[in-house]
Amino acid sequence: MSEWYHDSVFYELYIRAYQDSTGNGRGDFRGAIERLDHIKSLGVDCIWIMPHYASPLLDGGYDISDYRDVHPDFGTLDDFKAFLDAAHARGLRVVTDLVMNHTSDQHPWFQAARQDKDSPYRDYYVWSDTGTEYAETRIIFLDVEASNWSYDDVAGQYFWHRFYSSQPDLNYDNPKVHEEMFDVMRFWLDMGIDGFRVDAIPYLYEREGTNCENLPETHLFLQKMRRMVDAEYPECLLIAEANMWPEELLPYFGTAENPEFQICFHFPIMPRLYQALRAQDKTAIEEIWARTPDIPEGTSWMTFLRNHDELTLEMVTPEVRQWMWEQYAPEPRMKQNMGIRRRLAPLMDNNKQKWFLINALFLSLPGVPILYYGDEIGMSDNIWLPDRHGVRTPMQWDASKNAGFSDADELYFPVIENYREVNVAAQEKDPTSYLNLTRRLLQVRSEQPALRHGGFAFVETGNTAVLAFRRFIDEQSILCVFNLSDEEQVVMLDEKRPYRDVLSNENATFDISLAPRAVHWFI
Ligand code: NOJ
Repeated sequence: MSEWYHDSVFYELYIRAYQDSTGNGRGDFRGAIERLDHIKSLGVDCIWIMPHYASPLLDGGYDISDYRDVHPDFGTLDDFKAFLDAAHARGLRVVTDLVMNHTSDQHPWFQAARQDKDSPYRDYYVWSDTGTEYAETRIIFLDVEASNWSYDDVAGQYFWHRFYSSQPDLNYDNPKVHEEMFDVMRFWLDMGIDGFRVDAIPYLYEREGTNCENLPETHLFLQKMRRMVDAEYPECLLIAEANMWPEELLPYFGTAENPEFQICFHFPIMPRLYQALRAQDKTAIEEIWARTPDIPEGTSWMTFLRNHDELTLEMVTPEVRQWMWEQYAPEPRMKQNMGIRRRLAPLMDNNKQKWFLINALFLSLPGVPILYYGDEIGMSDNIWLPDRHGVRTPMQWDASKNAGFSDADELYFPVIENYREVNVAAQEKDPTSYLNLTRRLLQVRSEQPALRHGGFAFVETGNTAVLAFRRFIDEQSILCVFNLSDEEQVVMLDEKRPYRDVLSNENATFDISLAPRAVHWFI
């Protein structure tokens, strides 16, 4: 494989939210084509699209009723293909979501399974007469579900589900399920997609006496999946969504002999960036990095600040979680499950310097970064919408009706009220806008190979409020310095020489006074 992904920046796109081309109030592929130039203009290389499949949409499309079709709201298979071709024509790659742990209960497999005990599809799912098995397994959608088992009247049995009860888990003990999923992958790869973000992979198997997460059987299956991909689609990128601790994530990269994923999201570092900023103390970042193992050659972490879900706090201690809720979710409606359902800009108090600092920080850490649509213009959220929908509202393009997203009188969700001020068109003109700062950060990053894929080492600053680290490759080295505090700090840099900040193009000496929330990328 060409390993193009090491040098790429990703963008998470929600087709429903991007551009409506039909006037029905919902975004679609034809609309998104019109907006690809915006994505390209940011300096992004690859788009991850959230599930675009046929679905009753009880979990934002992560409840699939037909893996081989496009949701009618989004268009047709031809529209998907046109989007893919238009992206490729601009040099943008596209990965889609592969939801393999579960289907919708509307999927024909589940419908056949529940109706007939002897159907070959019965064994595609996980059943029980008592609903008492695997009692040590935690519940993920805590706010809504009381159990991982639900009774199905038609089937006369309980079925297993790690997410909503409308999402029955597939049974990976059945090899036919493997083949079905591989055929789904072939279907989309044959169409020309560049890879998959694979959803919820820790939960594929269940075993009594375990917490049913990260099981050896799961890894064996994932290795089998990678073997299929390497043999048939060697250019296919696989990204693992496993919300786990660093040491539990390592096996998802596999080994040189038995690889699994080229990229894994680094879930634990994400909340610590917010924690460090609010606490004005870098310790949490240094600690989690110390706990992050080296990963195999050719693999990479994926770093992110926000996505379409709640900002998950599963990977922090209960005490830190409580503190984070107090700091970042003062209203009860801002909390969800084990996280916070807010967008990046409001989490940064709509303070551009804080927003810039956390962005610059995440863009200079090792790993492939992914931006979430709308965060590049500092979009806000709507905590009054249910579930995680408050961070999935229409993209704000301009100050016209519905922020230029749609002509319709009714939208799938309302546009955020401040769209007349916060929109792409307004920010195009302002060199210090969120939009142009995003472009600037990505541009400067793209010019620094050390930032994109260099080594990483913390630099001692003697000050817990000042985080500093070096990224280095060959002869090139870049010193990244962040003043996490809202007061001026004075530090000595590690070498006595003049420095130049590639972000501001200003020079500095080795003993510098850092403005509140200052960011420097020194060469
Ligand atoms: C993780 C996805 O990010 C989330 O949106 C979804 O609800 C669950 N997996 C279940 O598919």
